[in-house]
Amino acid sequence: MRLNTKRFISAILITSFFIYSIVIYTTGTSVDKGKNYNTAQSRKGKLLFQKKNCIACHQIYGLGGYMGPDLTNVISAPGKGPVYIKAFLQNGTVRMPNFHLTETEKDEIVAFLTYADKTGVSPVKKFEINYDGTVNWKGKDEKGD
Ligand code: HEC
Repeated sequence: MRLNTKRFISAILITSFFIYSIVIYTTGTSVDKGKNYNTAQSRKGKLLFQKKNCIACHQIYGLGGYMGPDLTNVISAPGKGPVYIKAFLQNGTVRMPNFHLTETEKDEIVAFLTYADKTGVSPVKKFEINYDGTVNWKGKDEKGD
């Protein structure tokens, strides 16, 4: 290969490297799906979630205690949602204590769980690698947002 050709190819590779890096470090990292859900109300809900130590029994983003179910996507899970969550908080269950939260506090918890739902998926998706190196996702459908 002639020296000029080598230099040309190197120049193209180096330029693409810089363009790619700029894209990754600017637009690539500015995606925040939960931006509109990170409200004062949801932040209060998060503090309440910490204060009442819900994490002792529940997981968020897959982390926490394992006595109760993961709550990351409880807002969007089929058959569940705000009313369902409030019903649990209203009375507790045999295994989950009743925290005697006010209506405002319950709304804050719901706002926080909505934020969690928009920013994470749990349990983490499982993938299957095919013989040709492509990947299939064997699981429920990706959420539309
Ligand atoms: C002592 C453990 C414990 C604590 C603390 C606790 N929970 Fe639970 N929670 C459970 C268990 C266990 C269940 C599953 C239902 C059952 O078996 O009674 C549950 C169920 C739930 C559900 C229904 C989940 C689903 O997918 O069906 C929600 C919502 C919930 N808890 C929210 C909370 C919130 C919010 C807090 C904190 C204010 C909290 N829990 C604190 C044990 C706990």
